[in-house]
Amino acid sequence: MRERDHFGSRFAVIMAMAGSAIGLGNIWRFPYMVGEYGGAAFIVVYLLACFALALPIFFAESVIGRRGRSDTFGSMQKLAPGTGWRWVGLLTVLSPIIILSYYSVVGGWSVEYLFKSLAFDFTGPEAQIEGFFGRFISSVWEPIVAHTLFIGLTAAIVLCGVKKGIETFTKITMPVLFVLVVVLVCYSVSLPGSEKGVAYLVKPNFSKLTAEGVAAALGQAFFSLSLGVGTVLTYSSYVKADENLLYSGVGTAVSDLFFAILAGFAIMPAVFAAGIAPGAGPGLVFETLPFIFNRMGVAIPWLSALVAIVFFLTILTAALTSAISMMEVGVAYLSEEKGVPRTRAVLYITLFAWTVGILCSLSFGPLSHVHLLGCTIFDFLDKLCSNWLLPLGGFLFTLFAGWKMSRADVFDEFTNGGTRNVRLFGVVYFLIRYFAPVGILVVFLSALFL
Ligand code: PFF
Repeated sequence: MRERDHFGSRFAVIMAMAGSAIGLGNIWRFPYMVGEYGGAAFIVVYLLACFALALPIFFAESVIGRRGRSDTFGSMQKLAPGTGWRWVGLLTVLSPIIILSYYSVVGGWSVEYLFKSLAFDFTGPEAQIEGFFGRFISSVWEPIVAHTLFIGLTAAIVLCGVKKGIETFTKITMPVLFVLVVVLVCYSVSLPGSEKGVAYLVKPNFSKLTAEGVAAALGQAFFSLSLGVGTVLTYSSYVKADENLLYSGVGTAVSDLFFAILAGFAIMPAVFAAGIAPGAGPGLVFETLPFIFNRMGVAIPWLSALVAIVFFLTILTAALTSAISMMEVGVAYLSEEKGVPRTRAVLYITLFAWTVGILCSLSFGPLSHVHLLGCTIFDFLDKLCSNWLLPLGGFLFTLFAGWKMSRADVFDEFTNGGTRNVRLFGVVYFLIRYFAPVGILVVFLSALFL
């Protein structure tokens, strides 16, 4: 059998996993949610959600992946041969490919915005920012070209393999990403009037922390750590046997949280300094911020261009390191289960996600009238994945690790044969077996009824 690729060091594992976790979710959703649901009060709940709910699911996926030493389908097949569990593995091959298709469209927007910033198109009194976003995403060709570039870049990295491609890329870009966001924080908090933005993020306001806010914290922890879609499982299958799974999980969660908070301090103080009401989603990142950067830099145009370049480079890098993890899940499946050579596997997944992505992109323009259950194609796929497939996948992974695998196997994998984390195991196992599945049900039901 062909030898499997694996990550070279603990640093490489954490950078690759943090690369998957840190993405658009940290930049546009987290800062807004913090402000909306009670500032520091929300952060406390988010911390609990990350460490009590999301981390156990992370460990469940890690244990399955490293024990199975295969893609999602193969790992489940190996650990529970002849049962229906392999179909759960197959489901979690499909969901990241679907996410990749629409994530790549947004990744494409960041490519376009980076080019525009480099060309100084968002700088100076004549900058055409107002209305640009709406015109751009509803046009036919430009966003498709940008989407093609983004998915092409993703494919090129995945094509180079786990060690030479994913490891090398994330080991270099993730530290750079942290530097970029720190530069942005310094700029943002130095603006006159930024204190209100800082207060928006840190002032605890327990009255704003509603049941909806708690559910939002759980859902965000889930999306942000890329749980339930087989990326953690697949990456863990490349982790060496003597690596401590506790460190890779905690390292990833802490980096993800730290980056989300930094992103909040990079964005909100600038938004408040400009006297604009904060909003979430594409509008905040692609409409409000270029406008703010330009307005702030009237006196020093090159500075405003530089800030815009750094900002869109940050988004592009964060999106790329997430997209490669989504693509790797399907590539691992095709090459390990179907014997498809890696190059062709990358090509098939890319072509599929590219085609679905084109439909998503057109759903902002010529296909905006096409509705699935009342949503445009883009929104439908996003809702299907975020509200359904992610929690479902996470739920099934915890059931598998908590109830299907033997306690002895989970113990062996989590403690590296009884040599590490032994005292912690009881708590982690309880969380995997009872707390996490119940927690996910709460997220599920709250998405349905709130
Ligand atoms: N965690 C990523 C973010 O916060 O943007 C999103 C994500 C990445 C979801 C990878 C799913 C996935 F497989």
